[in-house]
Amino acid sequence: MAADLHQLALQAAKKSYSPYSKFPVGAVIKTTDGRIYSGCNIENAAYPEGWCAETSAISHMIMDGGGEIAEVAVLGLKADLCTPCGGCRQRLAEFGSEQTKIHLCDQEKITDTITLGELLPKSFKL
Ligand code: THU
Repeated sequence: MAADLHQLALQAAKKSYSPYSKFPVGAVIKTTDGRIYSGCNIENAAYPEGWCAETSAISHMIMDGGGEIAEVAVLGLKADLCTPCGGCRQRLAEFGSEQTKIHLCDQEKITDTITLGELLPKSFKL
């Protein structure tokens, strides 16, 4: 259920290591076969050489055997709206489709659901 993805994104954001930006983000992926993977952003002293919450979640999915992304929830702990950055849109497109649902969250709930096709139209493909 989409509301569960919100709760998991909130928990993931609370695990963020983001002392440089002070912008904790959590992301949760649900695969087309129902598996769920969480991730948070992880920074380091060479900021901005950290990586995003979506990227962490994709890494967990790949290490668990891969899959196709059906839904994603993204939550910035200190923002009412946190959309996936440009690089993460491309990473999500690699393992999703134009129909992949992106749930945009605030601390309380999913505030909007859009598709990856809307977020990244005419995406680059090899
Ligand atoms: N960030 C994410 O984790 N996901 C996004 O889609 C947007 C940006 C992180 C990266 C960095 O650690 C912090 O937010 C500020 O840019």
